[in-house]
Amino acid sequence: MAKIVSRDEVLYHIGLSREMIKDTEYVVLPGDPGRVETIAKQMDENAVHLATNREYTSYLAFLGKTPVLICSTGMGGPSVGIGVEEFAMLGIKNFIRLGTCGAIQENIDVGDIIITSAAVRLEGTSTHYAPLEYPAVSNFSLTQKLVTATQDLTSDYHIGVTASSDTFFPGQERYDSHSGYVRRHFQGSMDEWQKLNVLNFEMEAATLFTICSVFKLNAACICAAIVNRNKSEIPDKSKYDESMRNCITAIGEAIKSDIIAKETAQ
Ligand code: URA
Repeated sequence: MAKIVSRDEVLYHIGLSREMIKDTEYVVLPGDPGRVETIAKQMDENAVHLATNREYTSYLAFLGKTPVLICSTGMGGPSVGIGVEEFAMLGIKNFIRLGTCGAIQENIDVGDIIITSAAVRLEGTSTHYAPLEYPAVSNFSLTQKLVTATQDLTSDYHIGVTASSDTFFPGQERYDSHSGYVRRHFQGSMDEWQKLNVLNFEMEAATLFTICSVFKLNAACICAAIVNRNKSEIPDKSKYDESMRNCITAIGEAIKSDIIAKETAQ
């Protein structure tokens, strides 16, 4: 039986209660705590700060009458896993990750948007929930709404498979690291992912998708490409602001259309 906590219980890691989040069923999940306020204020200029604890910084915004939680997860699977557990205990059902990523296909430019349909599980946290044979897939309906909302925006966008790695350096086959060494297991892996039509690397989608599927919750992921690994190893944030604004707009529209679809279905 799924656990939902009482309205005033403040959960240990995220520092939030159902009362504080106004029983919202939607959370937007950037990795970086420093981006939360900007995201929240673009969605609703009157958005308010709720809590800051470890990597979890949260704001509450309103889209019309619907409250939406924006809460950072920090980097990588473990903190996403803790977050999803506690958000689920607050009754949240829809999880949209908003992140940055490194594109690996030639045709994706810095500043393009990538919407993840499914993720390669190059991480460990999801294996604590389901065996590796279990797919890390996004929720079809939520992802479709993100795609529809992104079609009207100024950024080019791509839909497909993402590789989610526990490490930024060896797992993404980066040699510009402290040791410069990538263990044999990952040597040549970027070339292989390219050939397998993986679009990008990031660090959280597979954990989010797997846990949400296991819990019967809905997850989607939209990212801005801040580097194309075929051209550079150094992230370039020059087009980042515009693509982030577009991602936030797309998320807002997707949530609105999800609310309308659910109201219509009732
Ligand atoms: N985040 C990643 O995990 N990899 C990148 O290349 C860029 C952002």
